[in-house]
Amino acid sequence: MNDFYNKDIISIKDYTRDQFETIFDYTEKIINLDPASRREICKGKTLSYLFYEPSTRTRLSFEAAISSIGGNSLGISDISSSSTQKGESLADTVKIMSIYSDVLVLRHPLDGSSRFAAEVSSKPVINAGSGTEEHPTQAIQDLFTIKKEKKKIDGLKIGIVGDLKYGRTVYSLLSGLSNYDVDVHLISPESLRIRTDSIYEIKKKISFTESTDIEEYIDDLDVIYVTRIQKERFPDEEEYLKVKGSYVIGLDLLQKMKEDSIILHPLPRLDEIANDVDKTKHAKYFQQAEYGKHTRAALLGLTLNENGF
Ligand code: NCD
Repeated sequence: MNDFYNKDIISIKDYTRDQFETIFDYTEKIINLDPASRREICKGKTLSYLFYEPSTRTRLSFEAAISSIGGNSLGISDISSSSTQKGESLADTVKIMSIYSDVLVLRHPLDGSSRFAAEVSSKPVINAGSGTEEHPTQAIQDLFTIKKEKKKIDGLKIGIVGDLKYGRTVYSLLSGLSNYDVDVHLISPESLRIRTDSIYEIKKKISFTESTDIEEYIDDLDVIYVTRIQKERFPDEEEYLKVKGSYVIGLDLLQKMKEDSIILHPLPRLDEIANDVDKTKHAKYFQQAEYGKHTRAALLGLTLNENGF
């Protein structure tokens, strides 16, 4: 039986480096398969999704992923049109969705929401973003992109820029990276520094620096992972306005970067990467979004097939 069969995907902390490598191998397999064979992998399986927060890529990439491997999807992306508006509990909605499908993908604004859903669901639950805590499938996509574009993860110098306080993708990525031998530079406004309690364990495994100045390490980085300031998670708008636009990666900054460095972003982007950066060789964020479909297809294929595919 493969390690992922019939299991929830809740936290990136639950995985080992070997398991990441297995997912990467299966992702490569998906990329290289012809479309007809790919559609056999989850033929007739149904994925359901339940999104209590806005999403474009994550939901669509799950839909595109299941369809690329022969399955189908149904779900709720606008909670205002669901029975939640009538007062139905998360537990009941999850129970119903798990009756109608083989795997359930959940995004919810509260930390712990996916873990809770997994307890009441009769089918595996995949966390597609829980509060400010985790976004494990994004981290798998991010790690795969780094490996694919840089041909390795060990030995890299990785800068993570932006909203390190509220950005859940950052916490999942850092947990994932802690399985590799990397140097991490965290760059954020003072008020958006990483939450130290959340990286207590990670800190024991990789070396960090923290800075407010993006120029300090820019010429030394192999990967720059840029994040959006998470406006919706600020307790008050005033505080958001103070940090809005803190960092903008533009062509001027690119001049200072290593020739072969890459820029990643989980997207959506606001103004933190200038549009004219998109056409440069450093910009890999759209490629990263494409890999997201394949890594999710690999995860679904492993979750739904006892012996892999
Ligand atoms: C991220 C998220 O939802 O945390 N989006 C995504 O899934 N790619 C990042 C963000 O919203 O800034």
